[in-house]
Amino acid sequence: MSGAGQALGAWPTDGISYGGDYNPEQWDWDVILEDMRLMRRAGVDLVTLGVFSWVVHEPRDGEFDFSWLDRMLDLLHEHGISVDLATPTAAPPMWLQHAHPEILPEDEWGRRRAPGGRLGWCASSPVFREVALRIVERLAEHVAGHPAVRLWHVSNELGGGNGRCHCAESTRSFQEWVEARYGTVEAVNEAWGMAFWGNSFSAFEEIQTPRGGTNHNPGQQLDYERFSSDELLGHYRAERAILKKWTPEVPVTTNFMVGLGPDVVDYARWAPEMDVVGNDHYTFGPDPRRHQELAFSGDRMRGISGGGPWMLMEHATGASSWHAINQPKLPGEMIRHAVGHVARGSDSVMFFQWRASRAGIEQFHSAMLPHAGAETRVFEDVVRLGGIVERLREVRGSRVVGARVALLHDNEAGWALRSGLKPNNRIGYADTARAIHDALFDRAVTVDVVPPWTTLDAYAVVVVPGLFLVSDEHAAAVADYVAGGGTVLVTWFSGIVDGTNTVRLGGYPGAFRDLLGASSEQIHPLTDDETVLLDAGWSAKRWTELVRVDDAQVVASYATGPNAGHPAVTRRSVGRGTAWYLSTELEPDGLGALLERILEETGVAAVTHASSGVEAVRRGGDGQSFLFLINHTDAEAWAEATGEDLLTGTVHRGRVDLAAGAVAVIREEPR
Ligand code: GLA
Repeated sequence: MSGAGQALGAWPTDGISYGGDYNPEQWDWDVILEDMRLMRRAGVDLVTLGVFSWVVHEPRDGEFDFSWLDRMLDLLHEHGISVDLATPTAAPPMWLQHAHPEILPEDEWGRRRAPGGRLGWCASSPVFREVALRIVERLAEHVAGHPAVRLWHVSNELGGGNGRCHCAESTRSFQEWVEARYGTVEAVNEAWGMAFWGNSFSAFEEIQTPRGGTNHNPGQQLDYERFSSDELLGHYRAERAILKKWTPEVPVTTNFMVGLGPDVVDYARWAPEMDVVGNDHYTFGPDPRRHQELAFSGDRMRGISGGGPWMLMEHATGASSWHAINQPKLPGEMIRHAVGHVARGSDSVMFFQWRASRAGIEQFHSAMLPHAGAETRVFEDVVRLGGIVERLREVRGSRVVGARVALLHDNEAGWALRSGLKPNNRIGYADTARAIHDALFDRAVTVDVVPPWTTLDAYAVVVVPGLFLVSDEHAAAVADYVAGGGTVLVTWFSGIVDGTNTVRLGGYPGAFRDLLGASSEQIHPLTDDETVLLDAGWSAKRWTELVRVDDAQVVASYATGPNAGHPAVTRRSVGRGTAWYLSTELEPDGLGALLERILEETGVAAVTHASSGVEAVRRGGDGQSFLFLINHTDAEAWAEATGEDLLTGTVHRGRVDLAAGAVAVIREEPR
């Protein structure tokens, strides 16, 4: 796989990094000294420090005091713990928010946010930019050369709270952004289709951010999302330039929030600006398939990082605290999740946060060291996990291997899907992607979730799952891939609009119609309690289309429902390549059967044979091969493998038995 992102030259620690966010501003020095002892006991070797420390470094406007930071850095260094040092711009001090309320973001109704919380700033605000860069410069100058500082962490979750702003500065910047993109007002009107409802602009000054109280044009909405992402990236770049000036040897990153997508900013397009990509990932307790959603995000991180190792910057030992009901992880689940991230390419295991807060908004968020202290199951597991991470040292730097299926994912497609009004307005962008990933996960087939500009040649199968927006260039790349012998599966509501969010005419899915030799003239969505049957015996829901075949074989037709008798699934041979179209949302059995046929035709095999519920992923490189096995069931399970389990030292010949919930990492013998 090729793509965005760069491998980190010098990783911040020797092995797989272990630790988490450390917010000692909340604690006295005696507690901090206890932290040092307990971190050593747990094997922590990297902490993210200073995320919320702006007011500590600059207690009053223009008065700087780094004495607390100096002591913290020295102490951590003495204890052998490296630092991922945050620039503190996620936490603008109260003095700043009160002196300059104009930096606070405005919502779509023009309501300015109250001071407090975090990320209380607008990315287009020149006032904020100036004071933010001043603290970043003073901080970078101050710590330059400190041996503990091994990584820069720009701000925190940029866009998490300040992702969209509608203030006067944002409006002005948006107008400039639109002018730079389109040149003339006429071109904007054309691109966004403003003639409809007679909304054409006559001057750039009439263009506003999509504010509340009216329907907005989908083209405008999509560009506003792009603009917002660009503004935040501009902030990141400005901070990075200063960090590179003072500490060119220290790599720079920021923590992403990659999940199913669309995300608040366009991480795949941000990734080339990072020395390493890092992610914060939180599972949702009540989701019974949360381990698979975790795998999806890991496979996406790998796609975003160009296949290289990435950093798990934060996850949770137990419950988060922002849902209505926050359940802790089940016994053993934290270790399965941590190992699951490493299996999919992370070279770090980091948590939010080291010690549970006693006060503050997140006082009930789980931590490595819970309120109850060190004599707890959670802390025992944290110490155990530290041992596991240590035993995985030799895995660092290896890459996930054997992914022969690519799933195309683009944030812009998700933004476009949620703009305007659609035939079924309850479709989530990643619904199809996740259903297909889920089916492949259950069959132990490794998938790279990649942006559509990825080189596809090496894949046996490319899935285009509900990729609502696709550019001409990316659609052509898929067609070239098939012409070169590849197999593509295009699913419903893909290739519908172009980069301006304008529908491609002549039948759906416009961008792929010729490639598929099939198209549909009408979408007939289903209500939540309707299903249809296909003549292959598969049942389907939510979406059907009236499909016409020009040059393709009909694999399955609708047997019931509004399009009974018409094609539902088609297959076209294109030279040595194959193009499949799936026009409806198959239930898991049918989807599994269809995918099995495609995998069989293309010779894509499972990572290994294993009993149901066992996650299997392989990392390798330089003649080494590591097979990760995770038993997500509460029963005994097995997998085929030969080699030594790095976690226990046991040598297995042909078969590994996995106790309920157990993990194993097998150093495989050369095959
Ligand atoms: C995010 C943030 C952290 C913390 C955690 C847990 O990932 O980066 O500061 O708030 O969520 O809620």
